[in-house]
Amino acid sequence: MYDINKVRQDFPILSRTVYDKPLVYLDNAATTQKPLCVLDAMRDEYLNVNANVHRGVHYLSQQATDLHEAARETVRKFINAPKIEEIIFTRGTTESLNLVVSSFCDEFMSEGDEVIISTMEHHSNIVPWQLQAAKKGIAIRVIPINDKGEINLDEFTHLFTDRTKIVSIAQVSNVLGTVNPVKEMIKIAHEHDVPVIVDGAQSTPHFAVDVQDLDCDFFAFSGHKIYGPTGIGVLYGKEEWLDKLPPYQGGGEMIESVSFEKTTFEKLPFKFEAGTPDYVATHGLAKAIDYVSALGMDNIAKHEQELTRYCMEQMKTIDGIRLFGEQEGKDAVVSFLVGDIHHMDMGTLLDRLGIAVRTGHHCAQPLMDRYGILGTVRASFALYNTKEEVDALVAGVKRVAMMF
Ligand SMILES: Cc1ncc(COP(=O)(O)O)c(C=O)c1O
Repeated sequence: MYDINKVRQDFPILSRTVYDKPLVYLDNAATTQKPLCVLDAMRDEYLNVNANVHRGVHYLSQQATDLHEAARETVRKFINAPKIEEIIFTRGTTESLNLVVSSFCDEFMSEGDEVIISTMEHHSNIVPWQLQAAKKGIAIRVIPINDKGEINLDEFTHLFTDRTKIVSIAQVSNVLGTVNPVKEMIKIAHEHDVPVIVDGAQSTPHFAVDVQDLDCDFFAFSGHKIYGPTGIGVLYGKEEWLDKLPPYQGGGEMIESVSFEKTTFEKLPFKFEAGTPDYVATHGLAKAIDYVSALGMDNIAKHEQELTRYCMEQMKTIDGIRLFGEQEGKDAVVSFLVGDIHHMDMGTLLDRLGIAVRTGHHCAQPLMDRYGILGTVRASFALYNTKEEVDALVAGVKRVAMMF
């Protein structure tokens, strides 16, 4: 049984007040709150274990290394990657995407080659490609979306040319909540012998992901969006691809031997992990994954789906509401505008009622252009949100609308 009251006790921050009002935290797509088990584990590691990992002969270093490598195994299991060597720790989705874009372009793309992305990508899956476009002259082709915020697979298929080298696509939009048909898209891409990167920043917190079932070639996600610490993320890559890619950064940890004449590189995954890793954060991330796994990703998905559906229904009762992202069964994000009220005004006034939402372009300016707007107000849900909080949001939006 999913006991929401018990769940909320694991997140003490949810009981605080802001402006003397109970906090209603609906900015989970930006970052999630952390359960006590994550905070306790990280504090305990700094208090009792702390030492730099790998190649340390002393006790603490070996203990820290064991925790760090156990975390890698936890991540592997969580996304069902076949091999532990395929799990690379990064600082987050952004770094994971930059790593694969940079190394892939270095090795496999030249002027005129094409990448396919979608209209609803986060800037972290647009700008790294644009940097490569400026450096190497690669071309970016963009999958359009319909008014509900969905991709059409025929339109996607038509974008392939003999210059298409890779597809990079968000599994879930951070603005629309659209769940993209990535499994089908990967199948289509593979029929064209093209690999696929999946941005899982907004999917991993909300439903079970199986990289083998998807058959994606690369998969990226962030720890802080799935109840783990900031500054840690993951890049999964199929071994056959990772083996062929050059290192992204140089430094300690990623080398086998160094002389001034020649350097050879470590085996996977260390080839892509230059410098001291955030080994306390990897331990924290593993605890967060243990936490959501114990609750059950399917239970979390069901709870959040109910909240999202309820929120969408209630929002539709508000005069002048405009909802962005209307896919049936979409994920835990509700983006909206009301009449001509500026998104910042709505967000600021909701904040005074204790309701934390995000306003602006959500790092998806091309998507804003698609809808001809500057920004939206975005409420996003997590495993600890309640129906009462949705009611508070809807009442708050109605109250603000009355004021204008
Ligand atoms: C879909 C998507 N991709 C990538 C990112 C970037 O994640 P991070 O800032 O954790 O690197 C985000 C963050 O909001 C996101 O929503």
